[in-house]
Amino acid sequence: MSKRTLAQLAAAHLDGQRVVVRVDLNVPMADGKVSDDTRIRASLPTIQYLHGKGARVVLLSHLGRPAGGPDPKYSLKPLVRDLEKQLGFPVTFLADPTSADAVSQVRHLPRGGVALAENTRFYSGEETNDPELAGRFAALGDLYVNDAFGSAHRAHASTEGIAHRLKPAVAGFLMDKELRFLGEAVDHPKRPFVAILGGAKISGKIDLVEALLAKVDRILIGGAMACTFFRAMGLDTGNSLVEADRVDMAKSLLAKAGDKLVLPSGAVIAQKLESGAGTREVARDQIPPGWAVYDIDSGSVTAFAAIIAGARTVIWNGPMGVFETPPFDHGTLGVARALAAATASGAVTIVGGGDSAAAVVAAGLENQVTHVSTGGGASLEFLEGKPLPGVAALDDA
Ligand code: 3PG
Repeated sequence: MSKRTLAQLAAAHLDGQRVVVRVDLNVPMADGKVSDDTRIRASLPTIQYLHGKGARVVLLSHLGRPAGGPDPKYSLKPLVRDLEKQLGFPVTFLADPTSADAVSQVRHLPRGGVALAENTRFYSGEETNDPELAGRFAALGDLYVNDAFGSAHRAHASTEGIAHRLKPAVAGFLMDKELRFLGEAVDHPKRPFVAILGGAKISGKIDLVEALLAKVDRILIGGAMACTFFRAMGLDTGNSLVEADRVDMAKSLLAKAGDKLVLPSGAVIAQKLESGAGTREVARDQIPPGWAVYDIDSGSVTAFAAIIAGARTVIWNGPMGVFETPPFDHGTLGVARALAAATASGAVTIVGGGDSAAAVVAAGLENQVTHVSTGGGASLEFLEGKPLPGVAALDDA
């Protein structure tokens, strides 16, 4: 069911109105500073649009996973400066968005003014979706916009509860864009449709493999999760990361998938996970004791790239190796380049958030693929076909 969007609201609905916008500003921080502002930049179109329409904008977000109340380490206050820099005008900070004071601060914002509230997870009831807390957040506005695709898989007070209390409740531009790109790819893919999955564990991705097998023409598997499949094929995996309790599951996936599922034919192995460690490329049935798989080998990169080159829709989630520790980044970078080349030839290419998105950015290729999702867990759950509570609670179109 499609959802009502911000673009569908008449300007009269916005001028002078207080608009609560749930954004996902859960950005990586280092020494109190934002180390990757992708999610901030992705939130700007909705904020700028509302600013231009004369709305009074209240931004709600979480940051990190603070346990048991306020923790200065997870304060959103440092992001005021980043937002001001990007927006080019002052941003008010709401130190306690649940207080009467915050309600009054928002009422006193100028038309087009923007306020950023403190971390929603500082308030008990956010993660349990407490109606009382959702009501307090709702008291800050006249209408609600959810633009936090990255948090849409969480049924929290600021993502789900509030949408029942503050109407209209609509999707912002980023939310709408994410749902359209991911939804189109999965529901109306141009074929061949190829999925590439990687990462350490198959345990978190079994539902995804099952869901995708029904839709795609090929699934390419890399990352340490391939080793669990190797073990399921009866191969020796040395010291590689294998989820012993998932080997049977991997066996049944292999049986079900037939030749749809493509595993690497070889691996880059080392005795230690270290930059500068001695490495070897071996066939997947030649992994010696004492060695572990840390990347797919160059032959597998070539084979994967050929399949990607023939695809018209590609979805990628999860790195092919330990890409943050060179030289084990070759497989991941090779797949990123193959996606960029496929895009240039007219394929629709979608990178799920998290590590694969970081790898595409590290390769400087983020503008050479069709869409890089800002959602990690959210994009996985969406691709698995699970309803996202933060989306389901919004008004139907
Ligand atoms: C994310 O980074 O995936 C989202 O911001 C959600 O964060 P969470 O996993 O802490 O709920």
